[in-house]
Amino acid sequence: MSHEGVVAQGAKLFADEQKLACAKCHTVNGQGGKAGPDLLAVGDKFPRRELIDAVLLPSATIAVGYVTSIMETKSGVEYTGIIQQSTDTEVQLIGADGKLVRIAATDIKEKRGSPLSLMPEGLHAGLSLQEFTDLTEYLATLKQPENALISNHGMPGIIPELARPVAVRQFFNELLRIPPGKVQSGLTYLAQVPGHTNVFLVLHQTGKIWMMEKTEVGEAKTLFSDLSNEVFSERGPNGLLGLAFHPKFRENRKYYLKYQVFEEGTVTTTLVEKQFAPDFRHDSGQPARRLLKILSVAEDHGGGCIQFGPDGFLYLGMGDTGPHHDPNGHGQNLQLLLAKMLRIDVDHAEDGKAYAIPADNPFRGRADARPEIWAFGLREPWRFSFDSLTGDLWVADVGQDRVEEVDIVRRGENYGWNVYEAFEPFSNRYRKEGANYTPPVFAYKRKYGNSITGGFVYRGDKRSSFYGVYIFGDYTSKRIFGLTQENRVLKTVRQIGTAPQGLVSFSTDEQGNIYVVGFEGMISRLDFTDASFDEIRKD
Ligand code: HEC
Repeated sequence: MSHEGVVAQGAKLFADEQKLACAKCHTVNGQGGKAGPDLLAVGDKFPRRELIDAVLLPSATIAVGYVTSIMETKSGVEYTGIIQQSTDTEVQLIGADGKLVRIAATDIKEKRGSPLSLMPEGLHAGLSLQEFTDLTEYLATLKQPENALISNHGMPGIIPELARPVAVRQFFNELLRIPPGKVQSGLTYLAQVPGHTNVFLVLHQTGKIWMMEKTEVGEAKTLFSDLSNEVFSERGPNGLLGLAFHPKFRENRKYYLKYQVFEEGTVTTTLVEKQFAPDFRHDSGQPARRLLKILSVAEDHGGGCIQFGPDGFLYLGMGDTGPHHDPNGHGQNLQLLLAKMLRIDVDHAEDGKAYAIPADNPFRGRADARPEIWAFGLREPWRFSFDSLTGDLWVADVGQDRVEEVDIVRRGENYGWNVYEAFEPFSNRYRKEGANYTPPVFAYKRKYGNSITGGFVYRGDKRSSFYGVYIFGDYTSKRIFGLTQENRVLKTVRQIGTAPQGLVSFSTDEQGNIYVVGFEGMISRLDFTDASFDEIRKD
């Protein structure tokens, strides 16, 4: 059979609701609205091997935003499905039968998540080997058409690779892992302890923090702190995700952690303040001071990052917390802390809160908005950083089914979600007359990755061709990119290297070196010595 024949057979199988139920749960046209993710770009997202795994072992990796929820009602009925909508008055779930159920909020006794995919295992059982091949080949052809997206200067169709890429060198000899259990979890963050050049804290999603010391002769690892009894990391991109040191850390030894807990029957993002012991080698053991608590709507997109700005205020990236499509319009709703960049003053307290609102926060004093908001319309600002030279705030915002984006975020601005996904119109439901939507500096399609991880503007060696280049990457494709811009308009973007593992974070140290955190336990450092940003590879 010709390849077209194979693909046509696969498409038929996919659509056949008697034989395989794929089309009952998946659209392939970008419409969504069914239980499973839209698969319009699944051939860009996964190589064949992973497409096969997605069908054979649905629960091995659960697509973000598609955690199975179980709702138990007061009359003892249990509903299982994917949350489509969740408001104060009702929850809408799509079950494995493809049907939508609506449950009044007052009827819900308990909400739980499940580690199992709603997609059943063994769907392939009735298929011949040829049919399974047909189906896989069909899925592999589902790609974003090159011309389907608005052709935009900030979203080039091709990202060239460097002729001499950056070397990614393993930094710690030890892989920082805990024995993998039923739950998939890994490293989330790395931070150099200020004033202690060779000492780092490494965060594990489950709540463990290791202190790693690197010397000429070797490295030493100690367990700095273990919050695993408190931290919720069982499902979704939740767990211990972010750490920041107080700008006066060397005097007050204060540091801040962002993580999820399970509270009030739901996943809740918390921000706490803690303190080092005077030896700078241990946590003080003093109780944490809780600064913020933000309840999730579904279990997704709690943001990951916290950083102090050059102004001394603490910035937090907070995601829309789901469900998919942001059906409640969290992104554009200024009365919620969801889907925002937030900015607070941790050194003062006011209005019964554990922090104060900086005087120049854009929505301070407005009755219709939360004063903590610095900027809004972001879906999942997983990682962000400040350029140590210019103070620019670079935010990488994780997209839904089509594009990933890089923004330079300024006071009070609206980055569009869910009216826009990067440069593309997404939904008119929460569009407001006269609103200004700031476009990203850069966006990329599924061909280049599925989940953006923000990095840093390189300010290490002034003579390097990478000096001033914003370095970032993609968690799933493991590509590391570099870009330059002027007035938030893209100048150059290149693929500058490849990470060895799931690229969950970048980090920097007091020398301006850049590190890559691999979800599966490997910390690497970028080596720019033999690389050049100026020369692209010609094939
Ligand atoms: C009962 C509903 C249901 C059926 C039937 C179903 N799926 Fe799924 N599928 C899902 C859900 C929910 C997810 C997301 C959770 C996960 O990753 O397992 C998913 C995930 C996937 C993914 C991974 C998508 C991503 O972006 O990570 C692929 C590929 C996929 N399904 C293909 C298929 C194919 C092919 C069939 C038919 C053989 C099928 N599905 C049948 C519900 C279903």
